[in-house]
Amino acid sequence: MSIYGRHIFPRLMDWFMSGEEFHRLRAELLQAVRGDVLEIGFGTGLNLSHYPSHVSHLSAIDPAIIIPRKVRARIAAVSFPVETTHLTAENLPYPDRRFDTIVSTWTLCTIPDPVQALREVARVLRPAGRFLFLEHGRSDDPRVATWQDRLNPIQNLVGRGCNLNRRIDRLIEQGGLKIIELDRFQMNDVPRIGGTMYRGSGVRAD
Ligand SMILES: C[S@@+](CC[C@H](N)C(=O)[O-])C[C@H]1O[C@@H](n2cnc3c(N)ncnc32)[C@H](O)[C@@H]1O
Repeated sequence: MSIYGRHIFPRLMDWFMSGEEFHRLRAELLQAVRGDVLEIGFGTGLNLSHYPSHVSHLSAIDPAIIIPRKVRARIAAVSFPVETTHLTAENLPYPDRRFDTIVSTWTLCTIPDPVQALREVARVLRPAGRFLFLEHGRSDDPRVATWQDRLNPIQNLVGRGCNLNRRIDRLIEQGGLKIIELDRFQMNDVPRIGGTMYRGSGVRAD
């Protein structure tokens, strides 16, 4: 992997995604977390400080090992057990119907096969469990969407696989989940091509 991919991008990502509005949005979403939790695309653990302390266990997966010292310090600062594993969300090693809550924040943009990952989410989610998501994706404004399509190849390179133009709600439904809450909004201080948000929750469709 290049120096950019190994050292520069992870630090840029951690810095940019530590902004005040990112933290506010993480905190709002994660209020609803309960029980045995899975987070896909854990990154540098920026959600950790926003999980309620009554979480019983967090399984955190990400194929990349990103700034491990920082991740260890963030894990040490929470009171619930956290188990990190380096693997992809498209093939989860967990039994069916294990988790009460599954969390994905700014991750479905990057997973190479998001529908397969969401099928796995649906498989390992309990029937009464919740999938909580906070993701950027395709705009409903055709002018913005056109620019998202144009700039996507560059974003893919600069953002290490990140896509600007995914219809997050459709992907979630194609993955076998039913959306029960969906909030579409624009992040402040983030250009519309990258700040068009999909926030909500889903349950197993079956
Ligand atoms: C933009 S970062 C977001 C990190 C974190 N979720 C957050 O909110 O700060 C996207 C993350 O998705 C991870 N990722 C990429 N491919 C993945 C896959 N196949 N399965 C799970 N995570 C993946 C990346 O390694 C990266 O940590």
